[in-house]
Amino acid sequence: MENKPFRWGIIGPGRIARKFADALTVVDGGILYAVASRELERARAFSNKYQAEKSFGSYAEMVEDPDVDGVYVATPHPFHYENSLLSLKAGKPVLCEKPLTVNAAEADQLIKAARSNKTFLMEAMWTRFLPVLQQVRQWLDDGRIGKVKLLTSTFGFRAARELEDRAFNPNLGGGVLLDLGVYNISISQWVLGQDALSFATQGILGETKVDELTAVNLLYENGAVSQFTCNMVSDTTNDMYVYGTEGHIYIHPQFWRPTAATLVSGGQETMETRSFRKNGFEYQIEEAITCIRSGLLESPRMPHAQTLSNMQLMDEIRAQIGLIYPFEKQK
Ligand SMILES: NC(=O)c1ccc[n+]([C@@H]2O[C@H](COP(=O)([O-])OP(=O)(O)OC[C@H]3O[C@@H](n4cnc5c(N)ncnc54)[C@H](OP(=O)(O)O)[C@@H]3O)[C@@H](O)[C@H]2O)c1
Repeated sequence: MENKPFRWGIIGPGRIARKFADALTVVDGGILYAVASRELERARAFSNKYQAEKSFGSYAEMVEDPDVDGVYVATPHPFHYENSLLSLKAGKPVLCEKPLTVNAAEADQLIKAARSNKTFLMEAMWTRFLPVLQQVRQWLDDGRIGKVKLLTSTFGFRAARELEDRAFNPNLGGGVLLDLGVYNISISQWVLGQDALSFATQGILGETKVDELTAVNLLYENGAVSQFTCNMVSDTTNDMYVYGTEGHIYIHPQFWRPTAATLVSGGQETMETRSFRKNGFEYQIEEAITCIRSGLLESPRMPHAQTLSNMQLMDEIRAQIGLIYPFEKQK
Protein backbone atom coordinates (compact mmCIF):
# COMPACT_ATOMS: atom_id res chain seq x y z
CA MET A 1 0.00 0.00 0.00
CA GLU A 2 1.35 3.35 -0.98
CA ASN A 3 1.43 6.05 1.68
CA LYS A 4 0.28 8.91 -0.52
CA PRO A 5 -3.50 9.03 -0.85
CA PHE A 6 -5.02 8.45 -4.28
CA ARG A 7 -6.44 11.82 -5.37
CA TRP A 8 -9.76 11.66 -7.21
CA GLY A 9 -11.25 14.34 -9.39
CA ILE A 10 -14.97 14.38 -10.20
CA ILE A 11 -16.40 15.44 -13.56
CA GLY A 12 -20.05 16.50 -13.22
CA PRO A 13 -20.88 17.21 -9.55
CA GLY A 14 -24.56 16.20 -9.71
CA ARG A 15 -26.68 13.62 -7.92
CA ILE A 16 -24.57 10.48 -8.15
CA ALA A 17 -21.33 12.37 -7.57
CA ARG A 18 -22.53 13.00 -4.01
CA LYS A 19 -22.76 9.29 -3.38
CA PHE A 20 -19.23 8.82 -4.71
CA ALA A 21 -17.91 11.62 -2.48
CA ASP A 22 -19.68 10.15 0.57
CA ALA A 23 -18.19 6.72 -0.11
CA LEU A 24 -14.70 8.17 -0.51
CA THR A 25 -14.76 9.18 3.15
CA VAL A 26 -14.34 5.51 4.12
CA VAL A 27 -11.92 4.51 1.36
CA ASP A 28 -8.52 3.80 2.82
CA GLY A 29 -5.90 5.62 0.80
CA GLY A 30 -8.30 7.64 -1.36
CA ILE A 31 -9.43 11.28 -1.10
CA LEU A 32 -11.55 13.71 -3.06
CA TYR A 33 -9.01 16.20 -4.36
CA ALA A 34 -10.75 18.10 -7.17
CA VAL A 35 -14.17 18.86 -8.59
CA ALA A 36 -14.93 20.06 -12.12
CA SER A 37 -18.21 21.56 -13.23
CA ARG A 38 -19.28 23.52 -16.29
CA GLU A 39 -19.83 26.34 -13.75
CA LEU A 40 -17.06 27.20 -11.30
CA GLU A 41 -19.57 28.12 -8.60
CA ARG A 42 -21.11 24.63 -8.68
CA ALA A 43 -17.67 23.06 -8.41
CA ARG A 44 -16.83 25.32 -5.46
CA ALA A 45 -20.06 24.52 -3.63
CA PHE A 46 -19.43 20.79 -4.02
CA SER A 47 -15.76 21.14 -2.99
CA ASN A 48 -16.76 23.07 0.12
CA LYS A 49 -19.26 20.45 1.12
CA TYR A 50 -16.81 17.55 0.66
CA GLN A 51 -13.56 19.35 1.53
CA ALA A 52 -11.95 18.97 -1.88
CA GLU A 53 -8.83 21.07 -2.35
CA LYS A 54 -9.42 22.22 -5.95
CA SER A 55 -12.41 23.47 -7.94
CA PHE A 56 -12.49 23.94 -11.69
CA GLY A 57 -14.97 25.70 -13.97
CA SER A 58 -14.22 23.36 -16.85
CA TYR A 59 -13.61 19.65 -17.16
CA ALA A 60 -10.60 20.23 -19.44
CA GLU A 61 -8.77 22.26 -16.81
CA MET A 62 -9.13 19.59 -14.14
CA VAL A 63 -7.71 16.73 -16.21
CA GLU A 64 -4.57 18.83 -16.79
CA ASP A 65 -3.91 19.13 -13.05
CA PRO A 66 -0.84 16.96 -12.43
CA ASP A 67 -2.05 16.09 -8.93
CA VAL A 68 -5.25 14.38 -10.08
CA ASP A 69 -4.57 10.63 -9.94
CA GLY A 70 -7.91 9.43 -11.33
CA VAL A 71 -11.19 10.80 -12.67
CA TYR A 72 -14.73 9.75 -11.82
CA VAL A 73 -17.10 10.64 -14.69
CA ALA A 74 -20.56 11.37 -13.27
CA THR A 75 -22.33 13.20 -16.11
CA PRO A 76 -25.45 11.89 -17.92
CA HIS A 77 -24.72 9.02 -20.34
CA PRO A 78 -24.35 10.96 -23.62
CA PHE A 79 -21.35 12.82 -22.18
CA HIS A 80 -19.50 9.79 -20.82
CA TYR A 81 -17.67 9.30 -24.09
CA GLU A 82 -16.28 12.82 -24.47
CA ASN A 83 -15.57 13.28 -20.74
CA SER A 84 -13.79 9.94 -20.42
CA LEU A 85 -11.85 10.49 -23.64
CA LEU A 86 -10.72 13.90 -22.41
CA SER A 87 -9.40 12.28 -19.24
CA LEU A 88 -7.75 9.32 -20.96
CA LYS A 89 -5.99 11.59 -23.45
CA ALA A 90 -4.60 13.55 -20.51
CA GLY A 91 -3.31 10.24 -19.12
CA LYS A 92 -5.83 10.12 -16.26
CA PRO A 93 -7.32 6.76 -15.23
CA VAL A 94 -11.11 6.74 -15.49
CA LEU A 95 -13.93 5.24 -13.45
CA CYS A 96 -17.00 6.09 -15.55
CA GLU A 97 -20.63 5.81 -14.51
CA LYS A 98 -22.85 3.18 -16.09
CA PRO A 99 -23.59 2.72 -18.90
CA LEU A 100 -20.03 3.32 -20.11
CA THR A 101 -21.41 5.08 -23.22
CA VAL A 102 -24.73 5.25 -25.07
CA ASN A 103 -23.76 2.70 -27.73
CA ALA A 104 -21.18 0.07 -28.60
CA ALA A 105 -19.40 2.18 -31.23
CA GLU A 106 -18.52 4.76 -28.58
CA ALA A 107 -17.59 2.09 -26.02
CA ASP A 108 -15.30 0.43 -28.53
CA GLN A 109 -13.53 3.73 -29.29
CA LEU A 110 -13.15 4.53 -25.62
CA ILE A 111 -11.66 1.13 -24.82
CA LYS A 112 -9.24 1.51 -27.74
CA ALA A 113 -8.26 4.96 -26.45
CA ALA A 114 -7.61 3.55 -22.97
CA ARG A 115 -5.42 0.82 -24.40
CA SER A 116 -3.48 3.07 -26.76
CA ASN A 117 -2.93 5.64 -23.99
CA LYS A 118 -2.06 2.79 -21.59
CA THR A 119 -4.56 4.23 -19.12
CA PHE A 120 -7.07 2.47 -16.88
CA LEU A 121 -10.77 2.55 -17.75
CA MET A 122 -13.66 0.89 -15.91
CA GLU A 123 -17.44 1.06 -16.08
CA ALA A 124 -18.69 1.83 -12.56
CA MET A 125 -20.79 -1.33 -12.23
CA TRP A 126 -20.54 -1.13 -8.43
CA THR A 127 -22.93 -4.05 -7.73
CA ARG A 128 -20.28 -6.57 -8.79
CA PHE A 129 -18.04 -5.51 -5.91
CA LEU A 130 -20.56 -5.59 -3.07
CA PRO A 131 -19.75 -7.92 -0.15
CA VAL A 132 -22.90 -10.05 -0.34
CA LEU A 133 -22.26 -10.81 -3.99
CA GLN A 134 -18.91 -12.30 -2.99
CA GLN A 135 -20.96 -14.76 -0.90
CA VAL A 136 -23.24 -15.44 -3.89
CA ARG A 137 -20.14 -16.10 -6.01
CA GLN A 138 -18.91 -18.58 -3.42
CA TRP A 139 -22.24 -20.46 -3.44
CA LEU A 140 -22.20 -20.57 -7.25
CA ASP A 141 -18.57 -21.73 -7.43
CA ASP A 142 -19.20 -24.38 -4.77
CA GLY A 143 -22.01 -25.79 -6.92
CA ARG A 144 -24.57 -25.24 -4.16
CA ILE A 145 -27.39 -24.74 -6.68
CA GLY A 146 -25.97 -27.01 -9.39
CA LYS A 147 -26.06 -25.67 -12.94
CA VAL A 148 -27.71 -22.27 -13.34
CA LYS A 149 -30.73 -22.53 -15.66
CA LEU A 150 -32.86 -19.46 -15.10
CA LEU A 151 -32.55 -15.92 -13.73
CA THR A 152 -35.46 -13.59 -13.14
CA SER A 153 -35.13 -9.98 -12.06
CA THR A 154 -36.94 -6.67 -12.03
CA PHE A 155 -35.66 -3.11 -11.78
CA GLY A 156 -38.50 -0.65 -11.67
CA PHE A 157 -40.09 2.27 -9.89
CA ARG A 158 -42.75 4.82 -10.63
CA ALA A 159 -40.84 7.95 -11.58
CA ALA A 160 -42.22 11.48 -11.27
CA ARG A 161 -43.08 12.50 -14.83
CA GLU A 162 -40.56 15.32 -15.12
CA LEU A 163 -40.01 15.10 -18.83
CA GLU A 164 -36.92 17.35 -18.90
CA ASP A 165 -35.18 15.11 -16.35
CA ARG A 166 -32.40 12.78 -17.44
CA ALA A 167 -34.74 9.77 -17.02
CA PHE A 168 -37.20 10.91 -19.71
CA ASN A 169 -35.13 13.28 -21.81
CA PRO A 170 -33.93 11.67 -25.06
CA ASN A 171 -31.20 14.31 -25.44
CA LEU A 172 -29.77 13.11 -22.10
CA GLY A 173 -29.93 9.43 -23.11
CA GLY A 174 -33.19 8.81 -21.20
CA GLY A 175 -35.06 5.55 -20.93
CA VAL A 176 -34.88 2.49 -18.73
CA LEU A 177 -32.75 0.03 -20.68
CA LEU A 178 -29.56 2.08 -20.52
CA ASP A 179 -30.22 3.41 -17.03
CA LEU A 180 -31.65 0.37 -15.22
CA GLY A 181 -31.55 -2.66 -17.52
CA VAL A 182 -27.79 -2.33 -17.71
CA TYR A 183 -27.75 -3.84 -14.18
CA ASN A 184 -30.01 -6.79 -15.02
CA ILE A 185 -27.78 -7.53 -18.02
CA SER A 186 -24.44 -7.03 -16.29
CA ILE A 187 -25.35 -9.06 -13.20
CA SER A 188 -26.77 -11.90 -15.34
CA GLN A 189 -23.46 -11.90 -17.23
CA TRP A 190 -21.58 -11.91 -13.92
CA VAL A 191 -23.60 -14.88 -12.58
CA LEU A 192 -23.29 -16.95 -15.74
CA GLY A 193 -19.77 -15.92 -16.73
CA GLN A 194 -20.80 -15.57 -20.35
CA ASP A 195 -22.49 -13.24 -22.82
CA ALA A 196 -26.02 -13.71 -24.10
CA LEU A 197 -26.32 -15.46 -27.47
CA SER A 198 -29.72 -14.11 -28.46
CA PHE A 199 -32.75 -12.34 -27.04
CA ALA A 200 -36.44 -11.55 -27.40
CA THR A 201 -37.78 -8.20 -26.28
CA GLN A 202 -40.66 -5.78 -26.02
CA GLY A 203 -40.36 -2.11 -25.21
CA ILE A 204 -42.93 0.56 -24.56
CA LEU A 205 -41.84 4.06 -25.58
CA GLY A 206 -43.56 7.04 -23.92
CA GLU A 207 -44.35 10.52 -25.16
CA THR A 208 -40.68 11.58 -25.15
CA LYS A 209 -39.88 8.52 -27.29
CA VAL A 210 -37.66 6.81 -24.73
CA ASP A 211 -38.41 3.35 -23.31
CA GLU A 212 -40.47 3.47 -20.11
CA LEU A 213 -40.92 -0.29 -19.81
CA THR A 214 -38.70 -2.91 -21.44
CA ALA A 215 -38.98 -6.68 -21.04
CA VAL A 216 -36.20 -8.98 -22.20
CA ASN A 217 -35.47 -12.70 -22.35
CA LEU A 218 -31.78 -13.42 -22.80
CA LEU A 219 -30.63 -16.85 -23.98
CA TYR A 220 -27.14 -18.09 -23.14
CA GLU A 221 -24.93 -20.67 -24.81
CA ASN A 222 -25.29 -23.12 -21.91
CA GLY A 223 -29.08 -23.07 -22.34
CA ALA A 224 -29.73 -20.73 -19.42
CA VAL A 225 -32.29 -17.93 -19.72
CA SER A 226 -32.31 -14.56 -17.97
CA GLN A 227 -35.70 -12.91 -17.95
CA PHE A 228 -35.97 -9.32 -16.80
CA THR A 229 -38.02 -6.16 -16.88
CA CYS A 230 -36.93 -2.59 -16.28
CA ASN A 231 -39.43 0.22 -16.04
CA MET A 232 -40.21 3.67 -14.65
CA VAL A 233 -44.00 3.45 -14.57
CA SER A 234 -44.54 0.97 -11.73
CA ASP A 235 -42.86 -0.12 -8.50
CA THR A 236 -41.60 -3.68 -8.92
CA THR A 237 -40.05 -6.05 -6.37
CA ASN A 238 -36.51 -5.29 -7.59
CA ASP A 239 -35.02 -8.61 -6.59
CA MET A 240 -33.22 -11.36 -8.51
CA TYR A 241 -33.66 -15.12 -8.41
CA VAL A 242 -30.96 -17.43 -9.70
CA TYR A 243 -32.38 -20.92 -10.21
CA GLY A 244 -30.16 -23.96 -10.65
CA THR A 245 -30.61 -27.71 -11.04
CA GLU A 246 -30.05 -28.23 -7.28
CA GLY A 247 -31.60 -25.15 -5.66
CA HIS A 248 -31.78 -21.40 -5.97
CA ILE A 249 -30.30 -18.15 -4.72
CA TYR A 250 -32.43 -15.14 -3.89
CA ILE A 251 -30.71 -11.75 -4.10
CA HIS A 252 -32.81 -9.51 -1.90
CA PRO A 253 -34.10 -6.09 -2.98
CA GLN A 254 -32.71 -4.05 -4.38
CA PHE A 255 -30.68 -6.60 -6.31
CA TRP A 256 -28.33 -3.88 -7.62
CA ARG A 257 -27.47 -2.81 -4.05
CA PRO A 258 -28.12 -5.89 -1.93
CA THR A 259 -26.97 -6.48 1.60
CA ALA A 260 -28.66 -9.89 1.86
CA ALA A 261 -28.92 -13.10 -0.15
CA THR A 262 -30.60 -16.42 0.60
CA LEU A 263 -29.45 -19.85 -0.51
CA VAL A 264 -32.08 -22.58 -0.84
CA SER A 265 -30.33 -25.88 -1.36
CA GLY A 266 -30.60 -29.46 -0.11
CA GLY A 267 -33.86 -28.69 1.68
CA GLN A 268 -32.23 -25.91 3.72
CA GLU A 269 -32.51 -22.17 3.61
CA THR A 270 -29.58 -19.95 4.60
CA MET A 271 -29.72 -16.18 4.63
CA GLU A 272 -26.49 -14.17 4.70
CA THR A 273 -26.27 -10.44 5.25
CA ARG A 274 -23.31 -8.16 4.57
CA SER A 275 -23.81 -4.49 5.28
CA PHE A 276 -21.92 -1.69 3.53
CA ARG A 277 -19.18 0.28 5.27
CA LYS A 278 -20.78 3.42 3.82
CA ASN A 279 -23.11 3.27 0.83
CA GLY A 280 -21.63 0.50 -1.34
CA PHE A 281 -19.64 2.67 -3.74
CA GLU A 282 -16.53 2.24 -1.60
CA TYR A 283 -15.85 -1.25 -2.97
CA GLN A 284 -15.71 -0.26 -6.64
CA ILE A 285 -13.54 2.74 -5.74
CA GLU A 286 -11.13 0.43 -3.91
CA GLU A 287 -11.12 -1.94 -6.88
CA ALA A 288 -10.24 0.92 -9.25
CA ILE A 289 -7.42 2.18 -6.99
CA THR A 290 -5.98 -1.33 -6.59
CA CYS A 291 -6.05 -1.95 -10.36
CA ILE A 292 -4.54 1.45 -11.18
CA ARG A 293 -1.77 1.04 -8.62
CA SER A 294 -1.03 -2.43 -10.03
CA GLY A 295 -0.62 -0.92 -13.49
CA LEU A 296 -3.71 -2.65 -14.95
CA LEU A 297 -5.63 -1.06 -17.81
CA GLU A 298 -8.88 -2.77 -16.84
CA SER A 299 -10.46 -4.52 -13.90
CA PRO A 300 -10.51 -8.32 -14.19
CA ARG A 301 -13.85 -8.14 -12.34
CA MET A 302 -15.45 -5.66 -14.77
CA PRO A 303 -13.42 -6.22 -17.93
CA HIS A 304 -13.68 -4.11 -21.09
CA ALA A 305 -14.92 -7.07 -23.15
CA GLN A 306 -17.93 -7.56 -20.87
CA THR A 307 -18.84 -3.88 -20.90
CA LEU A 308 -18.53 -3.88 -24.69
CA SER A 309 -20.64 -6.98 -25.25
CA ASN A 310 -23.36 -5.53 -23.00
CA MET A 311 -23.34 -2.30 -24.99
CA GLN A 312 -23.67 -4.34 -28.20
CA LEU A 313 -26.61 -6.22 -26.73
CA MET A 314 -28.29 -2.98 -25.65
CA ASP A 315 -27.76 -1.57 -29.16
CA GLU A 316 -29.58 -4.60 -30.60
CA ILE A 317 -32.39 -4.41 -28.05
CA ARG A 318 -32.81 -0.70 -28.77
CA ALA A 319 -32.93 -1.39 -32.52
CA GLN A 320 -35.79 -3.83 -31.96
CA ILE A 321 -37.82 -1.55 -29.73
CA GLY A 322 -37.20 1.45 -32.02
CA LEU A 323 -35.20 3.58 -29.59
CA ILE A 324 -32.76 5.83 -31.43
CA TYR A 325 -31.49 8.94 -29.65
CA PRO A 326 -31.64 12.33 -31.43
CA PHE A 327 -27.85 12.70 -31.24
CA GLU A 328 -27.46 9.31 -32.94
CA LYS A 329 -29.77 10.28 -35.81
CA GLN A 330 -27.67 13.36 -36.57
CA LYS A 331 -24.56 11.24 -37.14
N1 LIG B 1 -24.40 3.88 -9.91
C1 LIG B 1 -25.59 4.34 -9.55
O1 LIG B 1 -26.21 3.90 -8.59
C2 LIG B 1 -26.16 5.47 -10.33
C3 LIG B 1 -27.32 6.10 -9.86
C4 LIG B 1 -27.78 7.21 -10.57
C5 LIG B 1 -27.13 7.60 -11.72
N2 LIG B 1 -26.04 6.93 -12.18
C6 LIG B 1 -25.36 7.34 -13.41
O2 LIG B 1 -24.68 8.55 -13.17
C7 LIG B 1 -24.75 9.40 -14.31
C8 LIG B 1 -25.22 10.77 -13.85
O3 LIG B 1 -26.50 10.65 -13.27
P1 LIG B 1 -27.08 11.80 -12.30
O4 LIG B 1 -28.47 11.42 -12.00
O5 LIG B 1 -26.11 12.05 -11.22
O6 LIG B 1 -27.08 13.03 -13.34
P2 LIG B 1 -27.40 14.56 -13.09
O7 LIG B 1 -27.40 14.87 -11.63
O8 LIG B 1 -28.60 14.90 -13.91
O9 LIG B 1 -26.15 15.24 -13.83
C9 LIG B 1 -24.85 15.11 -13.33
C10 LIG B 1 -24.03 16.31 -13.72
O10 LIG B 1 -23.65 16.22 -15.09
C11 LIG B 1 -23.22 17.50 -15.51
N3 LIG B 1 -23.59 17.72 -16.90
C12 LIG B 1 -22.73 17.88 -17.92
N4 LIG B 1 -23.36 18.11 -19.05
C13 LIG B 1 -24.66 18.12 -18.77
C14 LIG B 1 -25.82 18.37 -19.54
N5 LIG B 1 -25.77 18.68 -20.84
N6 LIG B 1 -27.02 18.31 -18.94
C15 LIG B 1 -27.10 18.02 -17.63
N7 LIG B 1 -26.02 17.79 -16.84
C16 LIG B 1 -24.81 17.86 -17.42
C17 LIG B 1 -23.83 18.49 -14.54
O11 LIG B 1 -22.80 19.04 -13.76
P3 LIG B 1 -22.08 20.42 -14.13
O12 LIG B 1 -22.93 21.13 -15.11
O13 LIG B 1 -22.00 21.10 -12.80
O14 LIG B 1 -20.75 20.08 -14.69
C18 LIG B 1 -24.71 17.64 -13.65
O15 LIG B 1 -24.80 18.09 -12.33
C19 LIG B 1 -25.68 8.71 -15.31
O16 LIG B 1 -24.94 8.20 -16.38
C20 LIG B 1 -26.34 7.60 -14.53
O17 LIG B 1 -26.53 6.42 -15.28
C21 LIG B 1 -25.55 5.88 -11.48
